[in-house]
Amino acid sequence: MLKKHIRLSSHQGLSKLLVRYTFYCEICNVKFTDEVAWNKHFTEGPNRHVLMAESRKSKVTEYECTKCLMVIFGDELSLARHISDRSRKDKKNEKKEPQLPEQVKRMFKSVENIEAESMKLLDEANNSLNGKQLTQECCTSLEKALSSVFPGCHVHPFGSRISGLGNEHSDLDVFVDTGDMFLGDKNQDPLAQVQLVRKAAAALTKLREEFQEVCQVPTARTPIVKLYHRKARIECDLSFRHGLSVENTKFIRFCIDIQPITQPFILMLKKWSFYNNLQEHITTYALALLAIFYLQINNYLLSVKKIKELNPAEAQTINGWETINYKMPVHQIKNHVSRYEHSISRLLKDFFDYYSKFDYEKQVVCPLLGYTINKNLFEGKGERLPPVMHTYVQQLSSKEPEQFRINSLFCVQDPFDLSHNLTKACQQGIVAKFKNMCGLSWRHLSSLT
Ligand code: UTP
Ligand code: MG
Repeated sequence: MLKKHIRLSSHQGLSKLLVRYTFYCEICNVKFTDEVAWNKHFTEGPNRHVLMAESRKSKVTEYECTKCLMVIFGDELSLARHISDRSRKDKKNEKKEPQLPEQVKRMFKSVENIEAESMKLLDEANNSLNGKQLTQECCTSLEKALSSVFPGCHVHPFGSRISGLGNEHSDLDVFVDTGDMFLGDKNQDPLAQVQLVRKAAAALTKLREEFQEVCQVPTARTPIVKLYHRKARIECDLSFRHGLSVENTKFIRFCIDIQPITQPFILMLKKWSFYNNLQEHITTYALALLAIFYLQINNYLLSVKKIKELNPAEAQTINGWETINYKMPVHQIKNHVSRYEHSISRLLKDFFDYYSKFDYEKQVVCPLLGYTINKNLFEGKGERLPPVMHTYVQQLSSKEPEQFRINSLFCVQDPFDLSHNLTKACQQGIVAKFKNMCGLSWRHLSSLT
């Protein structure tokens, strides 16, 4: 009676019970989604229930699988079969646990292997640096070619080939100063930038003997001209905005000079990021700053704020951002940091540990300060930000303010252009992958003796 009552639509309506069961008769191997049809199957048939063996009849009844919300008509064996079937399906649907790519496992095979790999990368990076002739050759021919349209222009190389984070395949990034543009107070508007890019591309396209595959990317945040330098066999990216990239490259080089392990450390991370397919989402520059920041919080490197305090002479301001006037010699600055005495494996392991536990939701990686700050300090007009970020606060009241993007999940502040979140384009999946891979790499490296 109770069963009947519960099935009544009046009861279901009143109790808002909307549990939807399916029904399976194992004897006849038929399924029903409708309870009325299920009942008919027993009362009116067709069914094969009478043909069941006498010995089985007494054991057959209704069973319930609460997980699948299914009523099963059969014996205990029917239920057991259903459960094993279900667990097989569950296993199939289970998401695969993330794993370290084989190439990472191979690279991190042993402490010796890590040491050897880092030395190899270091050699390659220094060879591409020492191949400065090639860089020089590229810059000279670019300068000569461009002076036909921009008389007296200057070409400034920057990026991995200059900082020591490249190899023979790296591109060469150059800033073309067409005249008084280094400080960024001329030709910054999009229209002027597009015109510069067009003019440069037109001049370079004519010199087919020297430059190939000249193409323009005028719509990028920083419009560029891309080309291939035939003799040096180097791809070049030419930009025309201001010298801030030249300065931040100098900063990376400076960190390497202060704490030399910084160089193989970042080179190994670059390779790790490549094997994890993260390099498209986290640029080499952002990765380098994550590494530098980790060294800063452990006093193996100085914060940008501290470097500025040790070099109080006025520095250039580029596009409104303060840079560093490196007056104090490197050997003196070295006295302000602890020398890293452990192995590269240990450093990598500790880096991975730190970023696998990092609070991406709330914290901003801030190499200017050398410690993390809370995202919510960037809210409003930045009244709660530390005084050293005054240039950021000032530009918020300018004609074209640029807010630091705290709504991105991953926040890494550029130490010079304080409104720039270097990882603003990283989606949740990428941050989760970065965090997961850091965790797995930490675990893997912890297992090495
Ligand atoms: P990249 O991250 O493009 O590459 O930065 P890289 O250091 O040259 O390394 P490869 O090419 O992957 O070997 C190039 C330069 O552009 C500036 C920095 O000066 C960096 O050194 N940059 C890059 C920025 O200023 N901001 C960015 O967000 C990215
Ligand atoms: Mg580059």
